[in-house]
Amino acid sequence: MILNRSRRGSATTMPPGPSGDRALARPLVSLRGVTKCFVTPAGPFYALRGIDLEIGQGGFVAVVGKSGSGKSTLINMIAGIDRPTEGEVWVQDTPVHKLSENRLARWRGRTVGVVFQFFQLLPTLTVVENVMLPMDFCHVHSPAERRTRAMALLSEVEMAEHADKLPVAISGGEQQRVAIARALANDPPLVLADEPTGNLDSKTAQAVFALFARLVAAGKTILMATHDLDLAARAQRRLILVDGELVGGSSLATVSMPGPPAAAETAS
Ligand SMILES: Nc1ncnc2c1ncn2[C@@H]1O[C@H](COP(=O)(O)OP(=O)(O)OP(=O)(O)O)[C@@H](O)[C@H]1O
Ligand SMILES: [Mg+2]
Repeated sequence: MILNRSRRGSATTMPPGPSGDRALARPLVSLRGVTKCFVTPAGPFYALRGIDLEIGQGGFVAVVGKSGSGKSTLINMIAGIDRPTEGEVWVQDTPVHKLSENRLARWRGRTVGVVFQFFQLLPTLTVVENVMLPMDFCHVHSPAERRTRAMALLSEVEMAEHADKLPVAISGGEQQRVAIARALANDPPLVLADEPTGNLDSKTAQAVFALFARLVAAGKTILMATHDLDLAARAQRRLILVDGELVGGSSLATVSMPGPPAAAETAS
């Protein structure tokens, strides 16, 4: 695997979490009272209501919940794609909720790999160019190395043979795999994946899950929204969203997951 061990957060300015710092699994992600209210023609709509959450480094967390329960909104808050109406979002020692748009883009490019629910590949770039884009944006690696790394990532998701095609020329499931490769381009410590297996057949979904498990074993932290309860049950921890509220979560031991034991994660 070409992925490096994840960068570890500094131990300086992260405020203590609701459940206190833990010696072995300091929170990588910490949400305090996060509320998101959308203003709609029908009036205010609360997509997230007072979310308190900590995710330790090296955690593999699945978020489940019905359509409309707030899974994508939660991911958008952590990635800084959207801002909370109230509350705080910390990733390592970065107050994501406070960053300016410019700083957000740079921070996100290096720290967070996002697999969007609807892929969001750039249609005018080839597959390999899409995977190189985060490296180009953040000036990571030399231009020649970027292509080599992008091809290696495409091999990881079995898409190398499609490298020179445009996204329109590959299937939805193939686009999803390219989006996963792109999310890993800058070797981010945190991967946020929104329905990463939603368009995949079960064999390919298993392969993506296995890739995520290897990433977690290599020190990455993964938060994955999914409708697939079998996959969710195999993550280390499962969060359940109902109408924008976390109604409970569990730390699940797993027979098939390499990586740190479920006890390293603590429900908030
Ligand atoms: N920009 C917006 N304006 C108004 N309402 C929104 C906006 N974005 C999301 N919502 C609403 O917030 C709620 C949560 O949406 P979200 O996309 O987070 O759900 P989800 O759990 O990801 O659903 P799915 O499983 O269908 O992807 C939904 O009722 C949605 O309609
Ligand atoms: Mg969604």
